[in-house]
Amino acid sequence: MNTFSEGISKMYMELPIMLCAVMVLLSASGTMEHQPLVTGVVVRYGEIGRKVILSCNISASEQAEWRLNNSQIMETADVILTENDLTILSARPTMEGEYSCHSPETGNTYSRVSLQLGYAPGKPRFRCWSVNYPLNMACFWSLEKPTNIPTEVKATFSYRREHVKTCSSADSLQGSCSIEDINLFSTIPYKVTVTAKNLLGSRSTTKEFIVEKIIKPDPPANVSLSPIPNQRKKLLLQWKPPATWPNPQLFLLKYIVKYWQVGSNRHRMIEIINQTNYTLSGLHSRGVYFVQVAAKDFVDNGHPSEWSPVVSAKLWFKD
Ligand SMILES: *[C@@H]1O[C@H](CO)[C@@H](O)[C@H](O)[C@H]1NC(C)=O
Ligand SMILES: *[C@@H]1O[C@H](CO)[C@@H](O)[C@H](O)[C@H]1NC(C)=O
Ligand SMILES: *[C@@H]1O[C@H](CO)[C@@H](O)[C@H](O)[C@H]1NC(C)=O
Ligand SMILES: *[C@@H]1O[C@H](CO)[C@@H](O)[C@H](O)[C@H]1NC(C)=O
Ligand SMILES: *[C@@H]1O[C@H](CO)[C@@H](O)[C@H](O)[C@H]1NC(C)=O
Repeated sequence: MNTFSEGISKMYMELPIMLCAVMVLLSASGTMEHQPLVTGVVVRYGEIGRKVILSCNISASEQAEWRLNNSQIMETADVILTENDLTILSARPTMEGEYSCHSPETGNTYSRVSLQLGYAPGKPRFRCWSVNYPLNMACFWSLEKPTNIPTEVKATFSYRREHVKTCSSADSLQGSCSIEDINLFSTIPYKVTVTAKNLLGSRSTTKEFIVEKIIKPDPPANVSLSPIPNQRKKLLLQWKPPATWPNPQLFLLKYIVKYWQVGSNRHRMIEIINQTNYTLSGLHSRGVYFVQVAAKDFVDNGHPSEWSPVVSAKLWFKD
């Protein structure tokens, strides 16, 4: 084992939080005999607030000289230089950069490390919804705070004693994935686990749920409110089922209509099943009326949609 890899394994023993290395680019320099050559820049990930040790690729007989972005590093209370190692007691974000160690006599470079500092991921947060019941459900996740270093998020699910499957994701960085071919009307929950992982650590969150409890349609589409000619007390409200709801004839929706008049903080609500228009009647005010509509599974499974954008109209009026 050369001193460099000894340094690495020492690091692994001392600091479980650390680190793996990736060779990025190759550059050769230095030609003196018996001297290790620089073969590339090694990327190293360290955790902010924790100890980081960098080891020089040099024979122990020499004392290495360390540079950060080509400026010599002096020992401080925070940064300790011993033989081959540079030890940062508590890494701060400003300590990122390219560390290199050199022969103090010739200035030859022995190794280069690009130090990148970040955090182990926190516990992922996620919610799963079925907006297009009964086709599939989708899970959406986010991390508590940025990790600053490459982090992978993966979601898996299982149902009954079936094998754990990957929740298919077009791009895990976008924070969502989709579970197809769902089992309907089952009393057995799905179990979904989202795991965030980087070279500093790994955290998971697991949730169980019944599909029907996480139904949440998109809001109704193309909501419009209009006066009805010759009707002085009525307004016609029309809308379309959400385009993402695959089969409104088979999986009926009910609609919650909320309306109020300008200047009033009292609103009225009505529920309508399997209809895409409604006549508001018994209206008196010459002012503007406002309406929003939400959709929900008609037997009240799951959650109502968000409200549609507000639409408004005035009663028909003839001078
Ligand atoms: C360290 O030096 C040896 C030669 O002594 C070389 O084979 C190795 O690639 C060097 N490692 C790094 C990371 O520069
Ligand atoms: C070193 O250089 C890198 C890249 O230019 C820069 O991001 C980093 O802040 C520098 N580090 C220090 C300590 O100046
Ligand atoms: C809403 O109206 C637009 C334009 O008239 C139309 O293209 C769209 O298909 C309608 N949406 C639904 C869900 O019917
Ligand atoms: C729901 O509405 C659609 C369209 O108006 C109609 O074809 C269907 O028969 C209705 N279903 C029920 C159960 O009322
Ligand atoms: C309202 O919806 C019903 C079916 O639900 C339909 O028969 C009727 O024509 C609609 N009225 C208007 C004004 O769109």
